[in-house]
Amino acid sequence: MDGYTLSTSSLSTTSSISSISSLSSLSSLSSLSSTRPPMPTYTLRVNGTSKQVDVDADTRLLWVLRDVLGLTGTKFGCGIAQCGACTVHLDGAAVRSCTTQVSQVGTRTITTIEGLSPDGGHPVQRAWIDEDVPQCGYCQVGQVMAAAALLKKTPRPTDEDIDDAMTGNVCRCGTYDRIRRAIHRAAQEG
Ligand code: FES
Ligand code: FES
Repeated sequence: MDGYTLSTSSLSTTSSISSISSLSSLSSLSSLSSTRPPMPTYTLRVNGTSKQVDVDADTRLLWVLRDVLGLTGTKFGCGIAQCGACTVHLDGAAVRSCTTQVSQVGTRTITTIEGLSPDGGHPVQRAWIDEDVPQCGYCQVGQVMAAAALLKKTPRPTDEDIDDAMTGNVCRCGTYDRIRRAIHRAAQEG
């Protein structure tokens, strides 16, 4: 019985210590949050419209687009610039939005798949449909954005140009042959 009494008393003491410690942590957290500086505001030019966002400087552009602005066409794949699913354009050049900090964007214009054309009629989008490129589709927004950036820079790309430009865009369904055909078609018909 004595052992039981001792044990509950120990538990009670432990519980009190833990409560005091939690309260103390909460109090520290609360004083930290009250002294935290406000998040900076960034003005981004996205798909032809100016948008203001309040986010930490190191927030990745991908999450600003998807979570803050609701532009969910741009996909998350690896998060470490290895798959190309998150490709968007900055001033027309393809970049990995998963590793681009919002503070690095500056005054450059951002184009996402939603802004590539007003009606899905960009030559690359039309060629993608004509060549029936997508399989599961997950990588395809990144593929289309990378292809559009390539054609802007190199309107008549060779197979080698295509391989160089598209090599970082991974397709686990293996649609690479159709992607290449679609890029040639877009170059001819665009
Ligand atoms: S999610 Fe950005 S490259 Fe994979
Ligand atoms: S179409 Fe499935 S990953 Fe590319």
